[in-house]
Amino acid sequence: MPRKTFNILALGTSLLLTLAACTRESPPVKGFVLPEGDLVKGEKVFVKYNCHACHTIPGVDLPRIEPPPPFVMAIGGEVYRVKNSGELLTAVLNPTHVLSQEYVAKLDKAQQSNVSSPMPYYGDAMSITEMINLVTFLQAQYHKLMPDFFQGYDLEN
Ligand code: HEC
Repeated sequence: MPRKTFNILALGTSLLLTLAACTRESPPVKGFVLPEGDLVKGEKVFVKYNCHACHTIPGVDLPRIEPPPPFVMAIGGEVYRVKNSGELLTAVLNPTHVLSQEYVAKLDKAQQSNVSSPMPYYGDAMSITEMINLVTFLQAQYHKLMPDFFQGYDLEN
């Protein structure tokens, strides 16, 4: 193969690889990258630490809590942007850092000025492996809502 053709092919391949990398669900987290966890074990961690006492997940069957909790917040589902692992880890370990707007909106005006998350602190109880599996499980529950792209004209009709 002539050298020039080879160069063009190599350039094409690297462009394609770059494009493929850009279509990933969430951007890579700078300076903070967790190893890939185990999804199935992550769901067990969710139940073990009683996260389902306050959260539901669309499409995931979780054990019932009796009596039902007064406030239940759904996590996961269809979103415009999937949270990356750093954001999810922060939501669990340091929940008051970025409060869910959905939660703040549910409180009355007087409470809104000084809100902290009711989530317990898990840092002493949870192992790092459990935390990694939990974050992998949580991230898989969010699905990127795709815009309704124009499909083009149907030339057959
Ligand atoms: C006592 C109730 C309670 C428990 C138990 C609880 N959470 Fe939460 N969680 C909340 C509330 C209320 C919010 C919204 C306020 C906030 O952002 O912290 C929240 C927010 C979150 C968010 C961010 C959601 C968003 O859309 O921003 C995640 C992720 C989350 N919780 C995961 C967990 C996990 C995992 C566990 C178990 C290890 C857990 N929670 C246990 C009450 C709880």
